[in-house]
Amino acid sequence: MSARTDSGTGIGRTDAGRVVGKVALISGAARGMGASHAVTLAEHGANVVIGDLLDDEGRTLAGKINAETGRDVALFVHLDVTDPESWQRAVSAAVGRFGGLDVLVNNAGIFTRGSVQDAEVDEWRRTIDIDLTGNFLGMKAAVPVMKSAGGSIINISSIAGLVGFKNRAAYAAAKWGVQGLTKTSALDLGPYGIRVNSVHPGSVDTPMTAGLKRGFGQIPLGRAAEVSEISDLVLFLASDESRFMTGANIAIDGGETAGNNLREDA
Ligand SMILES: NC(=O)c1ccc[n+]([C@@H]2O[C@H](COP(=O)([O-])OP(=O)(O)OC[C@H]3O[C@@H](n4cnc5c(N)ncnc54)[C@H](O)[C@@H]3O)[C@@H](O)[C@H]2O)c1
Repeated sequence: MSARTDSGTGIGRTDAGRVVGKVALISGAARGMGASHAVTLAEHGANVVIGDLLDDEGRTLAGKINAETGRDVALFVHLDVTDPESWQRAVSAAVGRFGGLDVLVNNAGIFTRGSVQDAEVDEWRRTIDIDLTGNFLGMKAAVPVMKSAGGSIINISSIAGLVGFKNRAAYAAAKWGVQGLTKTSALDLGPYGIRVNSVHPGSVDTPMTAGLKRGFGQIPLGRAAEVSEISDLVLFLASDESRFMTGANIAIDGGETAGNNLREDA
């Protein structure tokens, strides 16, 4: 679980309400960035459905959000993003408990290695299945419910969906696919008042990156992001403050994709 959700979250605050009354379903929300998105959205007045394979972590987080808000605003559902029926159950749970669905955050993902030469075919398929098809299936399940009142779909891509990413063929292909799926769906779903945007984080401190050897010299701001910094963007996109934004791909990367960050002595 993220530092943000381990420490005092301020979730009991009632002075902020940027997404009051909205219902948000977040995939991969038992830990890492997804958990932070769930906390932030609940903190700002949303009802949140936490979907993940990790039942214990997900239930614990939902219980913690409910305890801290003193209200029944969080629900955990077991969700495998590669399974269309699992998505149907998650969307039905959101509608059954909270009466609708306004926000979908397609956040679940895995990070796999390998160039075209050495990536295993099974690993390629698994990465595309979770990181790209998972988004497609989530949207497919959510859109029929969102169509009546409109909504906001936030697809979590990566800077690997904005530039090439060495030794990450499947991951980069999936994350670029998310960008294409997002822009195309913005065209298709705009007439229903459903907005679709993609978020492209750079390096973020989460369990996914905990074991990686990372350097920050190429990042103008010189550090990784905290999960809450990404959640602040997700909150904006979930809220009506972003009501004229759709089809956008937004880098949130400390400047990592701004250009070639040559050393001064290079
Ligand atoms: N951490 C980073 O530096 C970084 C940078 C750019 C983009 N991202 C993306 O952000 C998203 C969240 O990453 P994170 O760093 O929080 O990762 P994480 O590994 O900490 O969390 C990912 C969550 O997704 C869940 N998940 C995996 N497969 C699933 C499936 N089939 N069904 C449902 N849930 C599943 C995991 O159980 C986990 O809770 C991912 O899409 C990732 O690619 C991460």
